[in-house]
Amino acid sequence: MGKPADLQSMVTGFRVSAALSVAAELGLSDQLAGGPRAVGDLAAAVQADEDTLRRLLRVLVAVGVYAEYDGSFANTTVGEELRSDRPGSLRPLARLLQDPAIWAAWGHLGHSVRTGATAFEALHGIDLWTHRQRNPEQNAIFNDTMAALSSYVGDAVANAYDFTGLASVVDVGGGQGVLLEAVLARHEHLTGTVFDLPHVVAKEPRSSALESRWSVVAGSFFEAVPAADAYLVKSILHDWPDDRCLQILRSCAAALNPGGVLLVVELVLGRPGNELQAALTDLNMLVVAGGRERTEAEYAALFEAAGLRLTRVVDTGIPMSILEARRSSGGS
Ligand SMILES: C[S@@+](CC[C@H](N)C(=O)[O-])C[C@H]1O[C@@H](n2cnc3c(N)ncnc32)[C@H](O)[C@@H]1O
Repeated sequence: MGKPADLQSMVTGFRVSAALSVAAELGLSDQLAGGPRAVGDLAAAVQADEDTLRRLLRVLVAVGVYAEYDGSFANTTVGEELRSDRPGSLRPLARLLQDPAIWAAWGHLGHSVRTGATAFEALHGIDLWTHRQRNPEQNAIFNDTMAALSSYVGDAVANAYDFTGLASVVDVGGGQGVLLEAVLARHEHLTGTVFDLPHVVAKEPRSSALESRWSVVAGSFFEAVPAADAYLVKSILHDWPDDRCLQILRSCAAALNPGGVLLVVELVLGRPGNELQAALTDLNMLVVAGGRERTEAEYAALFEAAGLRLTRVVDTGIPMSILEARRSSGGS
């Protein structure tokens, strides 16, 4: 870091991001899964202009995503991560960033920094969730992104937390239920409910073995959530400003069974090891959703204001932590 060439790469970094998004949209890594292909062959397969595709690939070879051998192109180990069939594939995330509404919102980062307001809403006049409700294709890409990103988190959370003594779990804002699936698969005594907006919520688990322990409820966590012994609240609070987080936490506190726990799974600011990703996600929350990443002390203060208390922070072995909270009074 610190050399002019590094700074230039940082300044122009959005161009690499744009190139990766187009590669993801075209499915180039999927096309190269079987081995190297000539650019003409690849262009015909993805319906692209051959010369322009070569220019795009030149960039992606230079950054190490693809390799070129005698005019044919192949995935490197990095390019393999853009394959759709990879667990935790980054293809949906790369496609998500190509949503013109998100791309434009990042172009208005300065507005957010000057005013503290959400660039997305200032620019488009609607919030992110309404945008996704109105754009089923973007909604599907977002759901795929969360499912892919959550697939590696699910096992880490399921392994790190001891669910002994708890019977029912609700995945609050659980989307496709990927976290819930991992928790139910690892802890066979649990039953689970995935709770999310009607146009998002997964109707059934991907694994039919979990069907008998799986249920679905559609609704808004600002109004009420189903009763449970444990709530999983992953990548939810960071989407929202404090006043909206309090509404979500109060909905959970009101419905939590006696002796129950709230398990908030988030990147916690200030914990070592993932500073850049946490800082960038924090800015992303500001720009697109109006939320923020928080420190442990900030989560503790939110819990307290919602009638809960932070009882411990459980490391998962990956950058995300589990913040465990219980009712401060009237429960245990
Ligand atoms: C960042 S995603 C996290 C999804 C999932 N927990 C995960 O980590 O993969 C946020 C989720 O909150 C859901 N959501 C947004 N507003 C909601 C509301 N009012 N009530 C319930 N869910 C909501 C979205 O549909 C989305 O699935």
